[in-house]
Amino acid sequence: MAILKIARMGHPVLKARAAEIEDPGAPEVAALIADMLETMADAEGLGLAAPQVHVSKRLVIFRIPPSGTEDDDRDDAEDFPVLALINPVVEPLTDDLALGWEGCLSVPGLRGLVPRFTEVRYTGVTAEGTPIETVAEGLHARVVQHECDHLDGVLYPMQMDDLSMLVFESEWKHRMAAEQDTPKADPAAETDDQDVTLERAS
Ligand code: NI
Repeated sequence: MAILKIARMGHPVLKARAAEIEDPGAPEVAALIADMLETMADAEGLGLAAPQVHVSKRLVIFRIPPSGTEDDDRDDAEDFPVLALINPVVEPLTDDLALGWEGCLSVPGLRGLVPRFTEVRYTGVTAEGTPIETVAEGLHARVVQHECDHLDGVLYPMQMDDLSMLVFESEWKHRMAAEQDTPKADPAAETDDQDVTLERAS
């Protein structure tokens, strides 16, 4: 196993459409998954897509928030089970969008407020050949959309509709601390009630 180098925004591999994996059971796929798991753990990420480690293949790994995990609840992320999904397809099940803070290991040092579908269905196959079909909501749905976007050359800032909400992580932490200190009775505190936090990059 090895910790892989992570491609950063601007590298062409992050803009390409990644190729389907023809043989999910191939030993090199299993080896790549093992390296990606180690890389994600080292970087304390919530997810990782193969193009982020310079492999333009349709493979993502991500931590699965337990059912009912709200979009802003990432406290126990290191305890979430991890799924490695090959050739994933994501389909929105609603037109409803929610705003949530995201980070990305390929966009280090920044956070952005990103609209995502609140409910999606995703399919794919595991390295063991097991077909996966799952309906995801909340944080789970957000992570899946973020990771699978990487396979189509899309980084989260490209999904944002208000780039004034693309901020440095250090400023974001100040902002979050200030909001937590604001009494709920203050009407100003209610204006950001759609904001959620993603303390881990993916
Ligand atoms: Ni990412």
